[in-house]
Amino acid sequence: MGRVFRSLFIFLLSSLIFAAAIASLVSPDDESEDPLIRQVVSDDDDLLLNAEHHFNNFKRKFGKSYATPEEHAYRLGVFKANLRRARRHQKLDPSAVHGVTQFSDLTPAEFRRSYLGLKPLKLPVDAHNAPILPTNDLPTDFDWRDHGAIAAVKNQGSCGSCWSFSTSGALEGANFLATGKLVSLSEQQLVDCDHECDPEEPDSCDSGCNGGLMTSAFEYTLKAGGLMREEDYPYTGTDRGTCKFDKTKIAASVANFSVVSLDEDQIAANLVKNGPLAVGINAVFMQTYIGGVSCPYICSKRLDHGVLLVGYGSEGYAPIRLKDKPYWIIKNSWGEGWGENGYYKICRGRNVCGVDSMVSTVAAVNISPR
Ligand SMILES: *[C@@H]1O[C@H](CO)[C@@H](O)[C@H](O)[C@H]1NC(C)=O
Repeated sequence: MGRVFRSLFIFLLSSLIFAAAIASLVSPDDESEDPLIRQVVSDDDDLLLNAEHHFNNFKRKFGKSYATPEEHAYRLGVFKANLRRARRHQKLDPSAVHGVTQFSDLTPAEFRRSYLGLKPLKLPVDAHNAPILPTNDLPTDFDWRDHGAIAAVKNQGSCGSCWSFSTSGALEGANFLATGKLVSLSEQQLVDCDHECDPEEPDSCDSGCNGGLMTSAFEYTLKAGGLMREEDYPYTGTDRGTCKFDKTKIAASVANFSVVSLDEDQIAANLVKNGPLAVGINAVFMQTYIGGVSCPYICSKRLDHGVLLVGYGSEGYAPIRLKDKPYWIIKNSWGEGWGENGYYKICRGRNVCGVDSMVSTVAAVNISPR
């Protein structure tokens, strides 16, 4: 046993040293013109000396203001801790760029509470296991954005409703495949009306800004008859309203939904055949993510965020071009200003941050045009 632990320790230590060495070589020039970010990820001393200067830039860039001097001082402290965290993330995740984001004045707990919202619940009764698909003819690169199946990036705001955006995104894609039309669908309907429960745990239901699960939301949508259009039931980002679902205005309906096995080829095959997939992920590296392919050496697989898998690729595994490595392309719901125009790239191959472990696919009914 002792020897096993010693080897493990040496392995981890050498990985960290390797990571630090690579990180010091990384130049994020091609990723960002922002001198603030460049300083944050490349210059440790400057980072701490000039934290207040960076904080002022941050407040200006993201339009932040604080009600009292106490709040300001507290947020500056949180911001400094996040600068250090971004630097740690950079060392652990050298193929991505980490730095100051719109979330840099939030503690990790505040960030989880207000901007994530995935509740891993039990699978609903109508969930199947997706049939095993052939994988020999898969394209090397694929992106549903190139085929018109993906609506513009949306913003969940300060509400733990990620699950509703992952759900609407998957159904928007499935509906596009069934009807040839891309229709943006309502998350607010899910936030207000979907209280789908695990019958054995009545506390753990889909619950608006307090979290939910995509498969439960597919179950709700199947039972309710469908989702309305975004413009007929617009997003408010709060869960204090009553349900305003109007059955006569259904724009997309669920035919069935399935859970995809934890196998990257099956995930890719289901993506290509059935449209974008609803996936769970651990979002800890996303709080500081600026761009590039995120491939952290260490990342929890505890799923806390629901997102949409829209494609995969392998080109330009920047900034170190030793070899192209494959990645997944993920649509997020934090606006276009976050990440790469609202998107995240995460490496494929070893279930990084749990990205392969909760994948579901939905099929839409071909509703005749109205
Ligand atoms: C799901 O629905 C689609 C579209 O109607 C259909 O082609 C497919 O066979 C269904 N899958 C299952 C598992 O019922």
